[in-house]
Amino acid sequence: MTKPLYEVGETPPLGEVPRQMYASVIRQNRFGQPKQAFRTEVVDTPAAGRGQVLVYVMAAGINYNNVWASLGKPVDVIGMRQRQGQPEDFHIGGSEASGVVWAVGEGVRNVKVGDHVVVTSGQWDETAEDIRMGRDPMMSESSLAWGYESNYGSFAQFCRVDEYQCHPKPAGLSWEKSAAFLLTGPTAYRQLFGWQGNSVRPGDPVLIWGGAGGLGSMAIQLVRIAGGIPIAVVSDEDRAEYCCRLGAEGTVNRRDFDHWGRLPDVGDAEASARFLRGARGVGKKIWEILGERRSPRIVLEHSGQDTLPTSIYLCDNAGMVVICGGTSGYNGDVDLRHLWMRSKRLQGSHYANARQCREVIELVGAGLLDPCLSACEGFEDVGRMHQMMHDNVHPSGNMAVLVNAPRQGETTLELPTA
Ligand SMILES: NC(=O)c1ccc[n+]([C@@H]2O[C@H](COP(=O)([O-])OP(=O)(O)OC[C@H]3O[C@@H](n4cnc5c(N)ncnc54)[C@H](OP(=O)(O)O)[C@@H]3O)[C@@H](O)[C@H]2O)c1
Repeated sequence: MTKPLYEVGETPPLGEVPRQMYASVIRQNRFGQPKQAFRTEVVDTPAAGRGQVLVYVMAAGINYNNVWASLGKPVDVIGMRQRQGQPEDFHIGGSEASGVVWAVGEGVRNVKVGDHVVVTSGQWDETAEDIRMGRDPMMSESSLAWGYESNYGSFAQFCRVDEYQCHPKPAGLSWEKSAAFLLTGPTAYRQLFGWQGNSVRPGDPVLIWGGAGGLGSMAIQLVRIAGGIPIAVVSDEDRAEYCCRLGAEGTVNRRDFDHWGRLPDVGDAEASARFLRGARGVGKKIWEILGERRSPRIVLEHSGQDTLPTSIYLCDNAGMVVICGGTSGYNGDVDLRHLWMRSKRLQGSHYANARQCREVIELVGAGLLDPCLSACEGFEDVGRMHQMMHDNVHPSGNMAVLVNAPRQGETTLELPTA
Protein backbone atom coordinates (compact mmCIF):
# COMPACT_ATOMS: atom_id res chain seq x y z
CA MET A 1 0.00 0.00 0.00
CA THR A 2 1.27 3.52 -0.80
CA LYS A 3 2.48 5.38 2.30
CA PRO A 4 1.29 8.98 2.69
CA LEU A 5 4.89 10.27 2.72
CA TYR A 6 8.25 8.79 1.73
CA GLU A 7 11.67 9.94 2.88
CA VAL A 8 13.83 11.63 0.25
CA GLY A 9 15.53 8.85 -1.70
CA GLU A 10 13.01 6.24 -0.59
CA THR A 11 11.16 5.09 -3.68
CA PRO A 12 7.41 4.44 -3.73
CA PRO A 13 6.14 1.62 -5.97
CA LEU A 14 6.32 2.84 -9.59
CA GLY A 15 3.27 4.89 -10.45
CA GLU A 16 1.97 5.16 -6.89
CA VAL A 17 1.81 8.78 -5.77
CA PRO A 18 2.04 9.56 -2.04
CA ARG A 19 -0.34 12.20 -0.70
CA GLN A 20 2.52 14.38 0.50
CA MET A 21 6.14 15.06 -0.42
CA TYR A 22 9.25 16.87 0.81
CA ALA A 23 10.04 20.10 -1.02
CA SER A 24 12.55 22.91 -0.67
CA VAL A 25 10.14 25.78 -0.24
CA ILE A 26 10.35 29.58 -0.37
CA ARG A 27 7.77 31.63 1.53
CA GLN A 28 7.20 35.38 1.48
CA ASN A 29 8.16 35.81 5.16
CA ARG A 30 11.59 34.31 4.36
CA PHE A 31 12.35 36.44 1.27
CA GLY A 32 15.98 37.54 1.42
CA GLN A 33 19.32 35.73 1.31
CA PRO A 34 18.87 32.35 -0.42
CA LYS A 35 20.42 30.34 2.44
CA GLN A 36 17.54 31.52 4.66
CA ALA A 37 14.80 31.66 2.05
CA PHE A 38 14.77 27.93 1.22
CA ARG A 39 13.48 25.44 3.86
CA THR A 40 12.61 21.79 3.51
CA GLU A 41 8.91 21.32 4.25
CA VAL A 42 6.21 18.73 3.71
CA VAL A 43 3.54 19.81 1.21
CA ASP A 44 0.75 18.08 -0.67
CA THR A 45 1.90 16.32 -3.82
CA PRO A 46 0.35 18.03 -6.85
CA ALA A 47 -1.85 16.04 -9.21
CA ALA A 48 -1.14 15.79 -12.93
CA GLY A 49 -3.99 17.53 -14.76
CA ARG A 50 -4.81 17.42 -18.45
CA GLY A 51 -1.62 17.35 -20.53
CA GLN A 52 0.51 17.28 -17.40
CA VAL A 53 3.09 14.83 -16.09
CA LEU A 54 4.24 14.13 -12.54
CA VAL A 55 7.97 13.36 -12.49
CA TYR A 56 9.79 11.63 -9.62
CA VAL A 57 12.80 13.94 -9.41
CA MET A 58 16.22 12.29 -9.33
CA ALA A 59 18.30 15.45 -9.67
CA ALA A 60 17.67 19.15 -10.17
CA GLY A 61 19.85 21.92 -11.62
CA ILE A 62 20.64 25.15 -9.75
CA ASN A 63 20.02 28.39 -11.60
CA TYR A 64 20.08 32.10 -11.08
CA ASN A 65 16.32 32.50 -11.45
CA ASN A 66 15.72 31.04 -7.99
CA VAL A 67 18.25 33.47 -6.54
CA TRP A 68 15.77 36.11 -7.75
CA ALA A 69 12.84 34.08 -6.37
CA SER A 70 14.54 33.90 -2.92
CA LEU A 71 15.13 37.63 -2.85
CA GLY A 72 11.51 38.30 -3.80
CA LYS A 73 12.95 40.80 -6.29
CA PRO A 74 12.51 42.08 -8.90
CA VAL A 75 9.33 39.97 -8.78
CA ASP A 76 7.54 38.39 -5.82
CA VAL A 77 6.64 35.20 -7.69
CA ILE A 78 4.23 34.00 -4.98
CA GLY A 79 2.29 37.28 -4.93
CA MET A 80 2.26 37.34 -8.73
CA ARG A 81 0.66 33.89 -8.92
CA GLN A 82 -1.83 34.69 -6.16
CA ARG A 83 -2.93 37.76 -8.13
CA GLN A 84 -3.54 35.38 -11.04
CA GLY A 85 -5.85 33.31 -8.81
CA GLN A 86 -3.49 30.50 -7.80
CA PRO A 87 -3.96 29.54 -4.13
CA GLU A 88 -0.48 28.42 -2.99
CA ASP A 89 1.29 30.68 -0.50
CA PHE A 90 4.67 29.06 -1.26
CA HIS A 91 7.08 28.66 -4.13
CA ILE A 92 8.77 25.43 -5.15
CA GLY A 93 11.51 26.47 -7.53
CA GLY A 94 13.74 24.45 -9.82
CA SER A 95 13.66 24.89 -13.58
CA GLU A 96 15.38 21.73 -14.76
CA ALA A 97 15.22 18.11 -13.71
CA SER A 98 16.07 14.56 -14.54
CA GLY A 99 13.74 11.87 -13.27
CA VAL A 100 11.18 9.19 -13.88
CA VAL A 101 7.63 9.70 -15.15
CA TRP A 102 5.42 8.70 -12.20
CA ALA A 103 1.91 9.70 -13.32
CA VAL A 104 0.36 11.21 -16.43
CA GLY A 105 -2.75 13.32 -16.80
CA GLU A 106 -5.54 12.97 -19.31
CA GLY A 107 -4.48 13.36 -22.94
CA VAL A 108 -0.76 12.70 -22.41
CA ARG A 109 0.47 10.56 -25.31
CA ASN A 110 4.21 10.94 -25.74
CA VAL A 111 5.51 9.80 -22.36
CA LYS A 112 4.43 6.98 -20.07
CA VAL A 113 4.93 5.94 -16.46
CA GLY A 114 8.47 4.60 -16.01
CA ASP A 115 10.11 6.67 -18.76
CA HIS A 116 13.45 8.24 -17.84
CA VAL A 117 13.25 11.88 -18.83
CA VAL A 118 14.90 15.25 -18.60
CA VAL A 119 12.65 18.23 -18.09
CA THR A 120 13.14 21.64 -19.69
CA SER A 121 11.92 24.95 -18.40
CA GLY A 122 9.76 26.64 -21.05
CA GLN A 123 6.01 26.40 -20.41
CA TRP A 124 3.23 27.77 -22.55
CA ASP A 125 -0.40 27.15 -23.44
CA GLU A 126 -0.37 25.04 -26.58
CA THR A 127 -3.90 26.24 -27.34
CA ALA A 128 -2.94 29.94 -27.12
CA GLU A 129 -4.10 31.87 -30.15
CA ASP A 130 -0.69 33.42 -30.86
CA ILE A 131 0.92 29.95 -30.93
CA ARG A 132 -1.86 28.64 -33.17
CA MET A 133 -1.14 31.57 -35.48
CA GLY A 134 2.47 30.37 -35.74
CA ARG A 135 4.35 32.36 -33.12
CA ASP A 136 7.37 30.70 -31.50
CA PRO A 137 5.98 29.45 -28.14
CA MET A 138 8.73 31.30 -26.24
CA MET A 139 7.30 34.54 -27.62
CA SER A 140 3.73 33.64 -26.72
CA GLU A 141 1.76 35.77 -24.26
CA SER A 142 1.29 32.50 -22.37
CA SER A 143 5.01 31.67 -22.05
CA LEU A 144 6.32 31.05 -18.49
CA ALA A 145 9.55 29.89 -16.88
CA TRP A 146 8.60 26.70 -15.05
CA GLY A 147 9.91 26.55 -11.48
CA TYR A 148 10.17 30.33 -11.40
CA GLU A 149 7.02 31.95 -12.74
CA SER A 150 5.07 28.71 -12.33
CA ASN A 151 5.06 26.51 -9.23
CA TYR A 152 5.94 22.87 -8.48
CA GLY A 153 9.47 22.99 -9.83
CA SER A 154 12.19 20.40 -9.36
CA PHE A 155 13.34 21.17 -5.79
CA ALA A 156 10.92 18.52 -4.51
CA GLN A 157 10.42 14.78 -4.57
CA PHE A 158 7.91 15.22 -7.39
CA CYS A 159 7.58 18.01 -9.92
CA ARG A 160 4.65 18.82 -12.18
CA VAL A 161 5.29 19.70 -15.80
CA ASP A 162 3.61 19.79 -19.18
CA GLU A 163 4.13 16.80 -21.46
CA TYR A 164 6.17 18.74 -24.06
CA GLN A 165 8.72 19.69 -21.36
CA CYS A 166 9.80 16.05 -21.12
CA HIS A 167 12.58 14.77 -23.38
CA PRO A 168 14.33 11.39 -23.38
CA LYS A 169 17.22 11.35 -20.90
CA PRO A 170 20.60 10.91 -22.64
CA ALA A 171 21.49 7.24 -22.17
CA GLY A 172 24.44 6.58 -19.91
CA LEU A 173 24.60 10.11 -18.49
CA SER A 174 24.29 10.39 -14.69
CA TRP A 175 21.09 11.85 -13.25
CA GLU A 176 22.96 14.90 -11.99
CA LYS A 177 24.76 15.64 -15.25
CA SER A 178 21.48 15.19 -17.08
CA ALA A 179 19.84 17.81 -14.85
CA ALA A 180 22.59 20.42 -14.96
CA PHE A 181 22.59 21.89 -18.48
CA LEU A 182 18.91 22.08 -19.37
CA LEU A 183 18.45 25.76 -18.60
CA THR A 184 21.78 27.30 -19.52
CA GLY A 185 22.46 25.10 -22.58
CA PRO A 186 19.26 25.85 -24.52
CA THR A 187 19.35 29.54 -23.51
CA ALA A 188 22.86 29.96 -24.90
CA TYR A 189 21.92 27.90 -27.98
CA ARG A 190 19.00 30.17 -28.85
CA GLN A 191 21.15 33.25 -28.25
CA LEU A 192 23.82 31.96 -30.62
CA PHE A 193 21.75 30.23 -33.31
CA GLY A 194 18.17 31.45 -32.89
CA TRP A 195 18.30 34.91 -34.43
CA GLN A 196 18.25 34.82 -38.20
CA GLY A 197 20.90 36.94 -39.83
CA ASN A 198 23.12 36.78 -36.76
CA SER A 199 23.78 33.09 -36.13
CA VAL A 200 27.35 32.10 -35.34
CA ARG A 201 29.23 31.30 -38.55
CA PRO A 202 32.64 29.67 -38.92
CA GLY A 203 35.34 32.21 -38.13
CA ASP A 204 33.05 34.59 -36.21
CA PRO A 205 34.58 36.02 -33.03
CA VAL A 206 32.02 35.82 -30.21
CA LEU A 207 32.44 37.68 -26.92
CA ILE A 208 30.97 35.78 -23.96
CA TRP A 209 30.42 37.54 -20.64
CA GLY A 210 30.76 35.33 -17.56
CA GLY A 211 32.56 32.68 -19.64
CA ALA A 212 33.02 30.38 -16.64
CA GLY A 213 29.38 30.64 -15.55
CA GLY A 214 26.50 28.36 -16.50
CA LEU A 215 25.59 30.17 -19.72
CA GLY A 216 29.20 30.96 -20.52
CA SER A 217 30.47 27.39 -20.22
CA MET A 218 27.76 26.21 -22.61
CA ALA A 219 28.32 29.14 -25.00
CA ILE A 220 32.09 28.62 -25.32
CA GLN A 221 31.53 25.04 -26.43
CA LEU A 222 28.62 25.85 -28.75
CA VAL A 223 30.59 28.58 -30.51
CA ARG A 224 33.45 26.12 -31.09
CA ILE A 225 31.06 23.49 -32.41
CA ALA A 226 29.90 26.03 -35.02
CA GLY A 227 33.49 26.95 -35.95
CA GLY A 228 33.35 30.35 -34.27
CA ILE A 229 36.02 31.86 -32.04
CA PRO A 230 34.86 32.22 -28.40
CA ILE A 231 36.47 34.94 -26.28
CA ALA A 232 35.46 34.77 -22.62
CA VAL A 233 35.27 37.47 -19.98
CA VAL A 234 36.10 36.34 -16.43
CA SER A 235 37.01 37.81 -13.06
CA ASP A 236 39.97 35.65 -12.04
CA GLU A 237 42.71 33.43 -13.36
CA ASP A 238 41.14 30.11 -12.32
CA ARG A 239 38.06 31.00 -14.31
CA ALA A 240 40.27 32.06 -17.23
CA GLU A 241 41.96 28.66 -17.24
CA TYR A 242 38.63 26.91 -17.06
CA CYS A 243 37.37 28.81 -20.11
CA CYS A 244 40.50 28.03 -22.10
CA ARG A 245 40.14 24.33 -21.26
CA LEU A 246 36.59 24.49 -22.63
CA GLY A 247 37.82 26.01 -25.88
CA ALA A 248 38.03 29.78 -25.41
CA GLU A 249 40.59 31.38 -27.72
CA GLY A 250 41.53 33.71 -24.88
CA THR A 251 40.07 35.58 -21.94
CA VAL A 252 39.61 39.15 -20.73
CA ASN A 253 39.80 39.72 -16.97
CA ARG A 254 37.12 42.32 -16.19
CA ARG A 255 38.94 43.24 -12.98
CA ASP A 256 41.63 44.90 -15.17
CA PHE A 257 39.09 47.61 -16.06
CA ASP A 258 36.97 50.00 -14.03
CA HIS A 259 34.59 51.69 -16.47
CA TRP A 260 31.63 49.40 -15.75
CA GLY A 261 28.11 50.56 -15.08
CA ARG A 262 25.73 53.01 -16.65
CA LEU A 263 26.88 55.45 -19.33
CA PRO A 264 28.00 58.84 -18.07
CA ASP A 265 25.92 61.92 -18.84
CA VAL A 266 26.49 63.14 -22.38
CA GLY A 267 27.88 66.46 -21.11
CA ASP A 268 30.39 64.86 -18.72
CA ALA A 269 33.51 64.85 -20.90
CA GLU A 270 35.81 63.42 -18.26
CA ALA A 271 33.59 60.48 -17.38
CA SER A 272 32.85 59.86 -21.08
CA ALA A 273 36.58 59.73 -21.81
CA ARG A 274 37.02 57.26 -18.94
CA PHE A 275 34.30 55.04 -20.35
CA LEU A 276 35.83 55.14 -23.84
CA ARG A 277 39.29 54.33 -22.47
CA GLY A 278 37.89 51.29 -20.68
CA ALA A 279 35.77 50.02 -23.56
CA ARG A 280 38.62 50.51 -26.05
CA GLY A 281 40.96 48.73 -23.63
CA VAL A 282 38.70 45.67 -23.67
CA GLY A 283 38.55 45.91 -27.48
CA LYS A 284 42.35 46.03 -27.69
CA LYS A 285 42.60 42.93 -25.53
CA ILE A 286 40.22 41.17 -27.92
CA TRP A 287 42.41 42.15 -30.89
CA GLU A 288 45.44 40.77 -29.07
CA ILE A 289 43.65 37.46 -28.53
CA LEU A 290 42.54 37.28 -32.16
CA GLY A 291 45.88 38.48 -33.52
CA GLU A 292 44.04 40.91 -35.79
CA ARG A 293 41.78 43.95 -35.53
CA ARG A 294 38.39 42.27 -35.60
CA SER A 295 35.34 42.95 -33.47
CA PRO A 296 32.96 40.35 -32.06
CA ARG A 297 30.18 39.47 -34.51
CA ILE A 298 28.06 38.41 -31.56
CA VAL A 299 28.22 39.48 -27.92
CA LEU A 300 26.49 37.05 -25.55
CA GLU A 301 25.08 39.26 -22.79
CA HIS A 302 23.43 38.49 -19.47
CA SER A 303 25.46 40.59 -17.04
CA GLY A 304 23.32 43.61 -18.03
CA GLN A 305 23.65 47.10 -16.61
CA ASP A 306 27.39 46.97 -15.82
CA THR A 307 28.42 45.65 -19.21
CA LEU A 308 25.82 46.56 -21.84
CA PRO A 309 27.38 49.91 -22.85
CA THR A 310 30.68 48.11 -23.49
CA SER A 311 28.94 45.31 -25.38
CA ILE A 312 27.24 47.76 -27.71
CA TYR A 313 30.48 49.66 -28.24
CA LEU A 314 32.54 46.53 -29.01
CA CYS A 315 30.07 44.69 -31.23
CA ASP A 316 31.02 44.57 -34.94
CA ASN A 317 29.12 46.59 -37.56
CA ALA A 318 25.90 44.69 -38.36
CA GLY A 319 26.71 42.41 -35.43
CA MET A 320 24.40 41.50 -32.56
CA VAL A 321 24.38 41.95 -28.81
CA VAL A 322 22.02 39.21 -27.64
CA ILE A 323 20.86 39.49 -24.04
CA CYS A 324 18.97 37.11 -21.76
CA GLY A 325 19.49 38.59 -18.29
CA GLY A 326 20.57 41.48 -16.14
CA THR A 327 22.60 40.09 -13.23
CA SER A 328 24.12 43.49 -12.39
CA GLY A 329 20.88 45.41 -12.96
CA TYR A 330 18.38 45.91 -15.73
CA ASN A 331 18.69 49.61 -16.55
CA GLY A 332 21.17 49.00 -19.35
CA ASP A 333 22.24 52.12 -21.24
CA VAL A 334 22.69 52.14 -25.00
CA ASP A 335 24.58 54.79 -26.92
CA LEU A 336 22.13 54.88 -29.80
CA ARG A 337 24.67 56.46 -32.15
CA HIS A 338 26.64 53.22 -32.23
CA LEU A 339 23.48 51.21 -32.70
CA TRP A 340 22.17 53.05 -35.73
CA MET A 341 25.35 54.33 -37.38
CA ARG A 342 26.88 50.84 -37.35
CA SER A 343 23.63 48.93 -37.95
CA LYS A 344 24.11 46.92 -34.76
CA ARG A 345 21.37 44.76 -33.35
CA LEU A 346 20.33 44.56 -29.71
CA GLN A 347 18.32 41.38 -29.42
CA GLY A 348 16.41 40.11 -26.37
CA SER A 349 16.43 36.34 -26.04
CA HIS A 350 14.64 34.21 -23.49
CA TYR A 351 15.25 30.49 -22.92
CA ALA A 352 14.42 28.23 -25.88
CA ASN A 353 11.60 26.44 -27.65
CA ALA A 354 11.13 22.66 -27.53
CA ARG A 355 13.08 22.05 -30.76
CA GLN A 356 16.05 24.08 -29.56
CA CYS A 357 16.00 22.25 -26.21
CA ARG A 358 15.92 18.89 -27.97
CA GLU A 359 18.87 19.85 -30.19
CA VAL A 360 20.97 20.71 -27.14
CA ILE A 361 20.00 17.45 -25.43
CA GLU A 362 21.06 15.61 -28.62
CA LEU A 363 24.44 17.38 -28.57
CA VAL A 364 24.98 16.30 -24.96
CA GLY A 365 23.77 12.77 -25.73
CA ALA A 366 26.23 12.55 -28.62
CA GLY A 367 29.09 13.59 -26.33
CA LEU A 368 29.70 16.83 -28.25
CA LEU A 369 28.59 19.20 -25.49
CA ASP A 370 29.80 18.71 -21.91
CA PRO A 371 27.11 19.60 -19.33
CA CYS A 372 29.96 21.09 -17.22
CA LEU A 373 28.65 19.78 -13.92
CA SER A 374 31.02 21.31 -11.40
CA ALA A 375 29.26 20.63 -8.11
CA CYS A 376 26.58 18.27 -6.97
CA GLU A 377 25.22 18.29 -3.44
CA GLY A 378 22.29 16.92 -1.46
CA PHE A 379 18.69 18.06 -1.26
CA GLU A 380 19.34 20.02 1.95
CA ASP A 381 21.91 22.18 0.15
CA VAL A 382 19.53 23.91 -2.28
CA GLY A 383 19.60 27.19 -0.33
CA ARG A 384 23.36 27.22 0.24
CA MET A 385 24.12 26.54 -3.43
CA HIS A 386 21.89 29.44 -4.47
CA GLN A 387 23.67 31.58 -1.88
CA MET A 388 27.03 30.81 -3.50
CA MET A 389 25.60 31.77 -6.87
CA HIS A 390 24.19 34.98 -5.40
CA ASP A 391 27.64 35.80 -3.96
CA ASN A 392 29.40 34.81 -7.22
CA VAL A 393 31.65 32.37 -5.33
CA HIS A 394 30.25 29.23 -6.95
CA PRO A 395 32.49 26.93 -8.97
CA SER A 396 32.72 27.30 -12.74
CA GLY A 397 30.11 25.59 -14.92
CA ASN A 398 26.74 24.25 -13.80
CA MET A 399 25.59 22.92 -10.42
CA ALA A 400 22.97 20.36 -9.44
CA VAL A 401 21.47 18.75 -6.35
CA LEU A 402 20.54 15.13 -5.90
CA VAL A 403 16.91 14.78 -4.91
CA ASN A 404 15.89 11.12 -4.95
CA ALA A 405 19.02 9.83 -6.72
CA PRO A 406 21.68 8.18 -4.55
CA ARG A 407 25.12 9.74 -4.44
CA GLN A 408 27.42 8.02 -6.95
CA GLY A 409 30.64 9.74 -5.92
CA GLU A 410 30.25 12.59 -8.43
CA THR A 411 31.70 16.01 -7.66
CA THR A 412 31.31 17.56 -4.24
CA LEU A 413 31.88 21.04 -3.02
CA GLU A 414 33.09 22.79 0.14
CA LEU A 415 29.95 24.66 1.12
CA PRO A 416 30.10 27.61 3.51
CA THR A 417 28.10 26.95 6.67
CA ALA A 418 24.66 28.55 6.95
N1 LIG B 1 16.34 34.45 -19.84
C1 LIG B 1 16.77 33.23 -19.68
O1 LIG B 1 16.20 32.31 -20.23
C2 LIG B 1 17.96 32.96 -18.82
C3 LIG B 1 18.48 31.66 -18.74
C4 LIG B 1 19.65 31.43 -17.96
C5 LIG B 1 20.21 32.49 -17.25
N2 LIG B 1 19.64 33.73 -17.34
C6 LIG B 1 20.24 34.85 -16.57
O2 LIG B 1 21.58 35.02 -17.00
C7 LIG B 1 22.40 35.40 -15.90
C8 LIG B 1 23.60 34.45 -15.80
O3 LIG B 1 23.15 33.13 -15.56
P1 LIG B 1 24.21 31.96 -15.33
O4 LIG B 1 23.45 30.72 -15.06
O5 LIG B 1 25.22 31.95 -16.40
O6 LIG B 1 24.87 32.48 -13.96
P2 LIG B 1 26.31 32.17 -13.36
O7 LIG B 1 26.66 30.74 -13.48
O8 LIG B 1 26.30 32.83 -12.03
O9 LIG B 1 27.32 32.96 -14.32
C9 LIG B 1 27.23 34.33 -14.51
C10 LIG B 1 28.63 34.92 -14.58
O10 LIG B 1 28.46 36.32 -14.85
C11 LIG B 1 29.61 36.98 -14.36
N3 LIG B 1 29.20 38.23 -13.71
C12 LIG B 1 28.55 38.39 -12.53
N4 LIG B 1 28.38 39.68 -12.27
C13 LIG B 1 28.95 40.36 -13.31
C14 LIG B 1 29.12 41.73 -13.60
N5 LIG B 1 28.68 42.69 -12.78
N6 LIG B 1 29.76 42.07 -14.76
C15 LIG B 1 30.23 41.10 -15.59
N7 LIG B 1 30.10 39.79 -15.36
C16 LIG B 1 29.46 39.42 -14.22
C17 LIG B 1 30.30 36.07 -13.36
O11 LIG B 1 31.55 35.68 -13.93
P3 LIG B 1 32.92 36.46 -13.61
O12 LIG B 1 32.80 37.00 -12.20
O13 LIG B 1 33.95 35.41 -13.76
O14 LIG B 1 33.03 37.54 -14.65
C18 LIG B 1 29.39 34.85 -13.28
O15 LIG B 1 30.12 33.65 -13.22
C19 LIG B 1 21.48 35.43 -14.67
O16 LIG B 1 21.07 36.77 -14.44
C20 LIG B 1 20.31 34.57 -15.08
O17 LIG B 1 19.12 34.93 -14.41
C21 LIG B 1 18.56 33.98 -18.11
